[in-house]
Amino acid sequence: MLSYRHAFHAGNHADVLKHFVLVRLLRHLALKDKPFAVIDTHAGAGAYGLDAGYATRNAEHEAGIGRLWTRTDLPPALADYVDLVRGMNAAGKLTFYPGSPYLAAKLLRPQDRLRLFEMHPTDVELLGKTFQDDGRRVIVTRGDGFAGLKSLLPPPSRRGLVLIDPSYEDKADYPRVVEALKDSLKRFPTGIYAIWYPHLARTEARRLPERLRAIHGVAWLDASLSVRKPATAEPGMTGSGMFIVNPPWTLAATLRECLPELKSILALDSGSSFHIEASPEQSQ
Ligand SMILES: C[S@@+](CC[C@H](N)C(=O)[O-])C[C@H]1O[C@@H](n2cnc3c(N)ncnc32)[C@H](O)[C@@H]1O
Repeated sequence: MLSYRHAFHAGNHADVLKHFVLVRLLRHLALKDKPFAVIDTHAGAGAYGLDAGYATRNAEHEAGIGRLWTRTDLPPALADYVDLVRGMNAAGKLTFYPGSPYLAAKLLRPQDRLRLFEMHPTDVELLGKTFQDDGRRVIVTRGDGFAGLKSLLPPPSRRGLVLIDPSYEDKADYPRVVEALKDSLKRFPTGIYAIWYPHLARTEARRLPERLRAIHGVAWLDASLSVRKPATAEPGMTGSGMFIVNPPWTLAATLRECLPELKSILALDSGSSFHIEASPEQSQ
């Protein structure tokens, strides 16, 4: 199913949560000199122009990164993410927004590696062009990220992050995510895994966090942000979450500091909320 184009949604509230957490995970991995690998199973186009094409259709970024863009009073971890977005907007006007591949590539050191999977022919071509000069560190593959992941774990460096960020337009993505995580943990139990999920009324979406938490013997942190009331008659996504396996031990405290800020800055109505929950060994 290839009707989904991430450019429609670039920089919206869900991207803000996902990319803020992604930056924290990458910063954590870069604390040690030892190389690490990043595998992005659903990479998208890599970066997006906000003033042309699909991104202008609903201008979702205006209620997302647009609300953080001019703030000078953000907690340091949120400011770090916003500064990375500012770094790709040299003119000081919000014109470009990074995708997960751009952010990962930005924080990679020469010794680290990035593997990107994307199925959409246009987006994979854009990715290929963006990273054509970085062939030693970044490999772009056109194909199914769930299948590709199997062959890459564990990474030679034995340190790494897997981002699993499907569009969930195909409801088979829900069980695939759970199976991919279970299988990956057998191959690479010490890896960090970040799974993005949407808050939608559909049963599969509501059940996904429960199904992820039920995977036995795993340390996890589940952080979600709703920008409007969950039970609204309006269709569509009311928020989203990031389910992190093997989270850095400092991440929960950072999220506790930053998610209240995001909740108030990104609220679309009085029903905005955030939730942070950890597996028992993480909450101590
Ligand atoms: C939510 S977007 C990814 C956004 C990106 N991770 C980011 O944060 O910037 C999901 C992408 O997955 C692609 N896709 C869908 N099914 C896929 C699959 N099985 N393997 C790889 N890519 C897939 C879609 O074309 C879409 O570009």
